[in-house]
Amino acid sequence: MKVSKAVIVAAGLGTRMLPASKAIPKEILPVVDKPAIQMVVEEAVAAGIKEIIVVISPGRTTVLDHFRPSPELERHLSERGKEDTLELVKKICAMAEFTAAEQAQPLGLGHAVLQARGDVGNEPFAVMLPDDIFDCQRPCLGQLIAVAERRDAPVVSLLKVAASEVPKYGIVSGDRIDERLFRLTGMVEKPEPEKAPSDLAIVGRYILPPEIFAILAEGKPGAGGEIQLTDALIELARRRPFYGYEFEGTRYDLGDPLGFLTAQVGFGLKRADLADRFRAYLKTVV
Ligand code: G1P
Repeated sequence: MKVSKAVIVAAGLGTRMLPASKAIPKEILPVVDKPAIQMVVEEAVAAGIKEIIVVISPGRTTVLDHFRPSPELERHLSERGKEDTLELVKKICAMAEFTAAEQAQPLGLGHAVLQARGDVGNEPFAVMLPDDIFDCQRPCLGQLIAVAERRDAPVVSLLKVAASEVPKYGIVSGDRIDERLFRLTGMVEKPEPEKAPSDLAIVGRYILPPEIFAILAEGKPGAGGEIQLTDALIELARRRPFYGYEFEGTRYDLGDPLGFLTAQVGFGLKRADLADRFRAYLKTVV
């Protein structure tokens, strides 16, 4: 399965991050000083993706504006000789090719992915949820693409979660066939912990075949009255081998205030220019 396109779903209303997400999409909120959406795009590009389709809510174009040239800012930086910052700003626009797909109504994750059908066409593609941010030696998406290519099959990223966290996720059932690899037999969207088939949650990265679009188009509303991607994945797993991969690395949930804070600390401590002073500060308060 060769993957060259990624669909980033940035169409949520971000209700868990209000009031920060009232006027701006939550995907623009930064981790240290970089918008979450840019971190996700960088992960995609590092995994060899060239084309990015961003699913947005009507009018919420800021996430795409971030990847457009800013002539005035560039002129300002150039006139003041700030070459490094100028390069940093220019690079953002040259990273990949971007297309917007609109989700007219918030009818669920599956429905959002379906809006990218025309732009993806008839080829395998990645789905990336920008609430989930990864800190991995090898990009999380790259780990999945390697599995998809080796197995010529769809695959999702998996994370072991505590029982109390289970109701927040799609939870899988499957057979372990390798250290980190599972052949999936089923999945349930946001189950009660006692009804969950395992403690393995799907987290924000998927490699899917184009046939998922036809399944989504026929899909009926599931949990929460929304068209669930998980329901389409259940059908996909019935039709063909489908895998889950326990990725190597750390994941942060940016869609939630505590996850947002831990991401600032995690990535802040990795920044060469900030780490020493930030660590010293943290020691004074903890
Ligand atoms: C979505 C999916 C869920 C998945 C989660 C990962 O849920 O529906 O299956 O486990 O993303 O973050 P949401 O977070 O949009 O409620």
